[in-house]
Amino acid sequence: MSAYHIATNKLRTTHILGIENESPTVKTFTFKDKQCGKAKPGQFLMLWIPGIDEIPLSILDAKENGLVSVTVKKVGEATNSLQNKNIGEVIGIRGPFGNSFTEKEGSILMVSGGTGTAPILFLARKIASRATKLVFVIGAKIQDELLFIEESRKILVKERDRVIETTEDGSCGVKGLVTTPLERLLAKEKFDMIYTCGPEQMMRKVFDLAEKYEVSLEASLERLMRCSIGLCGSCIIGKYRVCRDGTVFTREQLREVKNEFGISKRGFDGRKVPL
Ligand SMILES: Cc1cc2nc3c(=O)[nH]c(=O)nc-3n(C[C@H](O)[C@H](O)[C@H](O)COP(=O)(O)OP(=O)(O)OC[C@H]3O[C@@H](n4cnc5c(N)ncnc54)[C@H](O)[C@@H]3O)c2cc1C
Ligand code: FES
Repeated sequence: MSAYHIATNKLRTTHILGIENESPTVKTFTFKDKQCGKAKPGQFLMLWIPGIDEIPLSILDAKENGLVSVTVKKVGEATNSLQNKNIGEVIGIRGPFGNSFTEKEGSILMVSGGTGTAPILFLARKIASRATKLVFVIGAKIQDELLFIEESRKILVKERDRVIETTEDGSCGVKGLVTTPLERLLAKEKFDMIYTCGPEQMMRKVFDLAEKYEVSLEASLERLMRCSIGLCGSCIIGKYRVCRDGTVFTREQLREVKNEFGISKRGFDGRKVPL
């Protein structure tokens, strides 16, 4: 292991500096960490909640001065405990881990759902000024769960740039899944790259459309993660370890793991379980 990898994997304690409510179940936390301040879009970190657990989280923002943000949805014990924390409380950080999105120019389509919009927004902020066209498709089950709509609108620069919202219950934007407007967009307009992050079944549908319309794609995957450095095997998909070989995978790589992508994952006991 190189000195860089040893430093990255070492647990550092820090304090919560900021907490923002994004929705009734989602909060953004900001803290300082020099190592993660260098993170690139698509990378993740491991956040330790003292006495509870350590969980993988995508990085929403990372600045050279070491300020880092993550967006967390309350789903179980660890995320609940984190959401109950206050400014000034101690957390632990390892990372950043994994590869990152390639930062392409040209005509870009960003497709995200839930907290998957966090790494997509980080990427969009980096590449917006160089893109010839930037379109977001952001989906959620209900309006309350739509994240970062205003933040995404703020980075649009060109006339053709836009944000398309979808909700499954039709409470906001297009009624249905992100794939409803996506198929129409791909049939009508040309895109050089699709970036996607969100629920895996959603990304599988985005992948199938990218195959059909022959558009390059990068998807950031989530799997059960424990070590985050390629040792334990809990994050396996096909021949890949998501923490080490991803989390970002290309269309070609996803084609290799087509029998598992969007279909199954490893459970806590290491056995394959349906998604
Ligand atoms: C690379 C990556 C990036 C992620 N980014 C975000 C993010 O930006 N925001 C966010 O809210 N969530 C993110 N997650 C999911 C987050 O890690 C889980 O929601 C969290 O670990 C749940 O912990 P819990 O104790 O609250 O819930 P639990 O009750 O323990 O679990 C609830 C569900 O969360 C998932 N989960 C539990 N433990 C893990 C684990 N160690 N690794 C992966 N999934 C787990 C399982 O599907 C489980 O069924 C990410 C996961 C990965 C792998
Ligand atoms: S989390 Fe251990 S190998 Fe990926």
